[in-house]
Amino acid sequence: MIKEITAKELNTENFIDEKVEEIKQVVGEKMAINALSGGVDSSTVTMLGHRALGERLKTVFIENGLMREGEAEKVVGLFKKLGVAVDVVDAKKEFFAALEGITDPEEKREAITQAFYRDVFGRLVKECGAKHLLQGTILTDIDETVAGIKRQHNVFEQLGIDPEKAFGYHIIEPLIQLRKDGVRKVGEDLGLPAEAFDRIPFPGPALAARVIGETTPERVETVRRATVVVERLLKDTGAFQYMAILHEDRVTGMRDGLRDFGQQIEVRCWESVDARVATPTPLSFKILEKLAGEIIRDVPGIVSVTYNIAPKPPSTIEAV
Ligand code: XMP
Repeated sequence: MIKEITAKELNTENFIDEKVEEIKQVVGEKMAINALSGGVDSSTVTMLGHRALGERLKTVFIENGLMREGEAEKVVGLFKKLGVAVDVVDAKKEFFAALEGITDPEEKREAITQAFYRDVFGRLVKECGAKHLLQGTILTDIDETVAGIKRQHNVFEQLGIDPEKAFGYHIIEPLIQLRKDGVRKVGEDLGLPAEAFDRIPFPGPALAARVIGETTPERVETVRRATVVVERLLKDTGAFQYMAILHEDRVTGMRDGLRDFGQQIEVRCWESVDARVATPTPLSFKILEKLAGEIIRDVPGIVSVTYNIAPKPPSTIEAV
């Protein structure tokens, strides 16, 4: 059982000192590596890891072809300002090859896990001689995986998987006792700017968690474009998280007087504290109309835009 530290009882200063010490002890004089996706958890772990290990932590951004528009440049630029060098690793081919032909959500998550930890990280770890991977798993990831709701991409031990045996390196998870609200406090204390610690959560499987059906480069591009619109129009709502989802079913639409058997985008916008339960934000019809108008205008092939009004549970935050 992992002992939860709630955001309320968290003393960030003590927490940071303790974790820095633990990381130093475990890694010793060796090299460690971590993947920075630009999300709140991995950004916080990156700062924590660099405080503990300095140059002995190699930080990489895995360009898996599933990230949001302009994300690699944004993350590299932000961390450069914070004094952390980030290497961008192009792994698009590996990820799309692993996802080819897969439509089942859990199989998709498993394919991403294997591409990430076995193929890409297995190679990177060998190349740089690291023995440890530092990652930002949080308690909510564990809960859902153990409950069998979703296989979160980054959970192993609780599934009886030993990463050392399976992938050849040891995993360190300093944030595992926290939930999202606690991670934000730690991130802020470690010097992350608000644009990093106050960012909406983004899942490890990235935009593949928002494509229902097969994850092809074309379909990811469609959801990526819709994501740009949704994030732009909903950024001032103060909501916990918002996203665009591409559906698999097509519906009959019309364009320029002709039939267009088109695609559908679902918009979700959530109120939540720690992602365990969530309710849809009561967006005004004016905003909903704007979302529909701009998604139809900016995303080729879309003829239907819907807004999700079901809470979690029984929904979950991501569609996949
Ligand atoms: P769900 O969809 O399970 O999401 O209600 C709960 C929160 O977790 C995020 N999420 C993930 N985060 N790896 C992660 O690091 C994952 O595999 C993953 N799946 C979902 C989701 O965005 C939400 O904030």
